[in-house]
Amino acid sequence: MATPLTIAELKEVARRRVPKMFFDYADSGAWTEGTYKANEADFAAIKLRQRVLVDMTNRSLESTMIGEKVSMPVALSPTGLTGMQHADGEILAAQAAEVAGVPFTLSTMSVCSIEDVAAHTIKPFWFQLYVMKDREFVKSLINRARAAGCSALVVTLDLQILGQRHKDIRNGLSTPPKFIPKHIWQVATRPRWAFEMLGTKRRSFGNIVGHAQGVGDLSSLSSWTAEQFDPRLSWDDVAWIKEQWGGKLILKGILDAEDAAMAAETGADAIIVSNHGGRQLDGAASSISVLPEIVKAVGDRIEVHVDGGIRSGQDVLKALCLGAQGTYIGRPFLYGIGAYGKRGVTMALDIIRNELDITMALCGKRDIRDVGPELLHHRLPVVATEPARPSQ
Ligand SMILES: Cc1cc2nc3c(=O)[nH]c(=O)nc-3n(C[C@H](O)[C@H](O)[C@H](O)COP(=O)(O)O)c2cc1C
Repeated sequence: MATPLTIAELKEVARRRVPKMFFDYADSGAWTEGTYKANEADFAAIKLRQRVLVDMTNRSLESTMIGEKVSMPVALSPTGLTGMQHADGEILAAQAAEVAGVPFTLSTMSVCSIEDVAAHTIKPFWFQLYVMKDREFVKSLINRARAAGCSALVVTLDLQILGQRHKDIRNGLSTPPKFIPKHIWQVATRPRWAFEMLGTKRRSFGNIVGHAQGVGDLSSLSSWTAEQFDPRLSWDDVAWIKEQWGGKLILKGILDAEDAAMAAETGADAIIVSNHGGRQLDGAASSISVLPEIVKAVGDRIEVHVDGGIRSGQDVLKALCLGAQGTYIGRPFLYGIGAYGKRGVTMALDIIRNELDITMALCGKRDIRDVGPELLHHRLPVVATEPARPSQ
C-alpha cells in the first residue's frame, strides 16, 4: 500500500492491523457518538481566508506550551491502553514525540509504566493523573511522576464516572484479552500484532498492577478500576493535587466557560478544552465550538489548550486562530501506532506538520505565533439558492 498521506489513510491501515476490540476502543465515542462526530464536523465547517502576494519564505511553526518550547503546538493526548494498539505503544509514541520535538502525555491507564517510559526516553514527558478514591495511591502516582522527571501533571476532570461506550461493551473489552472464541479469532487474524505482543512483557496496566493496594494480579484489577474513579472529585481536590505536585499543572476536560473561570482561579498553568474525544458526555458541544467563549472567559489568566476532532494541520491552525495556545491529538497518533508502530506516530506528526505549514503559508502568515481570527472566514456557509421565480 502507498504511504499514507492523511490521518484517515493511517486509520484504515490501523483497522487492518489492530484486533477489532482495540481498534474499536480507539474509534468510539459514548452512546450515539454524536459528540465524537461533532468534534470533527465542526472543524470542517470553519473556513479559511486565502491570501495572495505576501512573502511566504522563512516560515516557523515553533511555539511554547506552558513555557516549554515545542517544534509545533501539537502534543500527544494521554490515551489508555496505547500498549494494546501496538506492543510497547507508550514507549514508542514517547520516543517519536521526543524526536519530533512535541510533548508526550502518559495516561494513568497506560500499559507501559511511568518508570518504563522514563527509562526509554531522554526528555521529560507529561503525566496524566486520574484521581482515584485511594488517595494514597494518587499520592504515590504523583511522587512517581516527579521521580521520573515528568515536567507537567495533567489532571483529568471529566471522568468522575465512566461514559458508556457501546462498542467496548459489545466487544467485551478487557486487558489483556479474555480469550473467548471471538477474541481468539480477532487476534489470530492480526498475526503481526500478536507476534509483537508475544515479544513484550508489557500487557497490563503498568502504573497500577503491583502498585495499588489490593491489585497484585490481573484478576483483582478489573474490579479495582471499575470502583476507583472518584465521583466526589471537587475543586478542593485540585488544590490538594497542586500542593502535592508543586510543578506545572494542566487541568483537562473543561467545556464550560463558568468551569473555565473557576479553573483559572486555581493557579494552574493551563486548561485543556476537551470532551474526552466524545467518550464521556454524549450530546455535549464539540470542543472547537466552545473554545472562543472559554478563551474570552479566562482572558490571559490561564493558558488555553484544546483537543477533540483534530485530524489535520488545518484543524490545528483553526484552533490556534480561535485562541488556543496549544493543541493535542489522540486518535491520529493512535492510528499511527496501530498502523506502523513508532514510524506511524512519526508519520501522523509529519502529516499534521506539513498541512499546518502549507495552510499557514496560503493564509498569508509565516510565524505560527502570529495567527489569529483574521485568518478565518466569518461568513455563513453558502446556502444553495433557490432559482429566481418569475414576478407575477
Ligand atoms: C482510546 C482512547 C483512550 C483515552 N484514554 C484517556 C486517558 O486515559 N486519560 C485521559 O485523560 N484521556 C483519555 N482519552 C482522551 C484523550 O486524552 C483526548 O481527550 C481525546 O482523544 C482527544 O480527541 P481526539 O482523539 O479526537 O484527538 C482517551 C482517548 C482515546 C481515543
